[in-house]
Amino acid sequence: MAGDALTTTPQAPRADRIREDAVDAALGKLDLDTKARLLAGQDMWTLPALPEIGLGSLVFSDGPIGVRGVRWTADDPSVALPSPTALAAAWDPALARRAGRLLAQEARRKGVHVLLAPTVNLHRSPLGGRHFECYSEDPYLTGAIGTGYVQGVQDGGVGTTVKHFVGNDAETDRFTVDSVIAPRPLRELYLAPFEAIVTNAHPWGIMTAYNKVNGSFMSEHRYLVNEVLRGEWGFDGANVSDWMAARSTTGDILGGLDVAMPGPQTVYGPPLAEAVRAGEVPESAVDDAVRNVLRLAARVGLLEGAPAVVTTAPAAVDGHALARELAARGIVLVRNENGALPLATGQRARIALSGAAARDARILGGGSATVFPERIVSPLVGLTAALPQGALTFSVGADPSEEPTPADAGFELRAVCRDASGAVIGEGSLPSGQVQWIGDDLPAGVTYATMASIEVTGTFVPRESGEHAFGTRGLGAFALAVGGAAVWEGAQLPGSEADPFEAFFGAPTVRARAVLAAGEPVEVSLTYQVPDMSALPLRAIMFSLLHLGPRRDADELIAEAVAAAREADTAVVVVATTERVESEGFDRTDLELPGRQNDLVRAVAAANPNTVVVINTGSPVELPWRDEVAAILLTWFPGQEGGAALADVLLGEREPGGRLPTTWPAVFADAPVTEVVPGEGRLEYREGLHIGYRAYEKAGVSPAFCFGHGLGYTDWAYESLEVTADAARVRIRNTGARRGREVVQVYLAPVGDPVERPASWLAGFASLEAEAGESVEVEIALPARAFEIWDEEAGAWRRVGGTYEVRASRSHVDARLTATLEVGA
Ligand code: BGC
Repeated sequence: MAGDALTTTPQAPRADRIREDAVDAALGKLDLDTKARLLAGQDMWTLPALPEIGLGSLVFSDGPIGVRGVRWTADDPSVALPSPTALAAAWDPALARRAGRLLAQEARRKGVHVLLAPTVNLHRSPLGGRHFECYSEDPYLTGAIGTGYVQGVQDGGVGTTVKHFVGNDAETDRFTVDSVIAPRPLRELYLAPFEAIVTNAHPWGIMTAYNKVNGSFMSEHRYLVNEVLRGEWGFDGANVSDWMAARSTTGDILGGLDVAMPGPQTVYGPPLAEAVRAGEVPESAVDDAVRNVLRLAARVGLLEGAPAVVTTAPAAVDGHALARELAARGIVLVRNENGALPLATGQRARIALSGAAARDARILGGGSATVFPERIVSPLVGLTAALPQGALTFSVGADPSEEPTPADAGFELRAVCRDASGAVIGEGSLPSGQVQWIGDDLPAGVTYATMASIEVTGTFVPRESGEHAFGTRGLGAFALAVGGAAVWEGAQLPGSEADPFEAFFGAPTVRARAVLAAGEPVEVSLTYQVPDMSALPLRAIMFSLLHLGPRRDADELIAEAVAAAREADTAVVVVATTERVESEGFDRTDLELPGRQNDLVRAVAAANPNTVVVINTGSPVELPWRDEVAAILLTWFPGQEGGAALADVLLGEREPGGRLPTTWPAVFADAPVTEVVPGEGRLEYREGLHIGYRAYEKAGVSPAFCFGHGLGYTDWAYESLEVTADAARVRIRNTGARRGREVVQVYLAPVGDPVERPASWLAGFASLEAEAGESVEVEIALPARAFEIWDEEAGAWRRVGGTYEVRASRSHVDARLTATLEVGA
């Protein structure tokens, strides 16, 4: 499938040469000030155009699951794919490539040239706030999925910045933390996915992380950037800072950082030209960076006279269909007692659905990965569409979100901007209560200089009668009115957090309550005083009008769900985390499901033996009742079509295609790394080589669900395994009654290991399909690196000879066939 229906410029090496010549010619025409200016963001998402050399303005945009575009608002929607962990759960680089092509299509539609993705940090601790945004605890799987993703995006002529290079595996104090990582784990675990992607997919960009590694900020890391990334691996793309990570003009440019984002006030631009004139930086360092930026621009078709890498976009992709397919392919069925799933005809006659997330689905994780899809198919909507009328009941059961969220269902809102005299100077549409205008993305006719206040105003028609709460999120002075009456006036001041993105994540706060009747419209208004932002490096308007519907008694809600479950053939309970639990910007502190959700599951399972639990979280949570229910599906953050995919899987239209890309512990204390808070600014990676399944095996601890585990709807027999020095040939037969897909996993386990290594590790895998009864054979390459360790003394990779057991497995602990391989040093 690779390369189908694509037109890349003919004779790639020749095109490379022409592009390189054009880059050199353009560079030669630029003076120092212009070169320094090109390396600094001109605003939040773009670099300046230089018409004098035929250079267009490069546009960057997040992110991994959808392309936001330069506007970050719900009225400029984007296709939202499942979370990266779900993509990795499909164990299929070709599928990741298809996701990448869709994202390239979205990028082109939105005028974006470089996608700020993929995120390939590792699942070191389940507490990591961006766990949902990373692929796996295993470096090989991460590298393979990331390679497919980057190839797909670049197939469409759009660049990527593989991020966050490196050691950004948690969020606490991410701007300052020093990740202290010994050479072997650094090479064998954390750098490994970056190396694989750079080597195999040749990304056109990389993003260096906020944090330090072993004492040096990543944006200034001469060794890891100049020597390892560019020197050893041959990376020839542009190195873009994480947003506001660039802090030192000389440190950054000498450390190999090409682009300082965002702008206009950065350490590059005039300060960089100044540093050259002062003799602190050789002009050649600036030239090297400019060359990298011009090469990136040329590749995406923004430099006149240089051929773009892709001249004709790949065939159009149906985004909604792909989002649905991907969601199903990523769903992991971790438990299925007595073939509870797929639901047989008798079991689907009456289904009792419960859980707040079944109605208000959590489709993506919080932070810069957030996009606004045109529609969201919740489990309730998906199942209602798939089942005959009257087959489905819904009750909330338990609501994990105690906090108000941006005003949405029932609200019709707009933003009215006024000047200091109170005169209206412009209006913006608002699909929800969230205002997020970054840089100069303001309503027509409005500027920062003229705008004094913004009023979020409109009507609200409540779904339920009772006490409704209204609140704010964001920093500044507010005035809130409900039903024409002023109900609160006050200010939210910045907290102590050093993270400049606090405003994205700032605490939602209830400001007033009002008793309202269902169906009766009421006027609402939140006025925000625009602060003076002239001295800030980045101007943005970010605040929200929040709402929380009437709270009902928790026991009553559970009782209602139990009563419905008792009457039904099958009970489906959806449990979830909230945006306040899993998001960029902070880490988790435990793995508990918030609110009364565990009580809900236990009570429903006691009332109905056919209880299926759907886990709508981005990362592992504790499931203390896991042996008491019939089936458990992990759907991650499944993207906008998640509810449709869930219906497909429950009813057997599609198989749940996923296998765990990460171990799920039985209890948090069993997780190999339980500490993500730095001590005196340092986060020591003390566990060395042992993260994820490697650590469970070393400690002899059984997790709730192990790495690689996942059930389908058919059965497989592993018939033969033949091993050579560089490949494993595995034959499997579909022994079940329906077509299915299997992920064949190959692990290496050294026998009598002469060096310290994990007891076993993933060396290769393949995802393949077969008809009922059909037998298929697959050859899985065993990469040389699978037999190597990083020799700290030699500063080089070293092959470790000896005897290896090669396992053809269904999961890390479920080896079906083994063979022995002798390997020379
Ligand atoms: C995140 C990046 C993101 C950037 C731009 C940063 O806070 O760490 O992953 O690409 O913001 O939104």
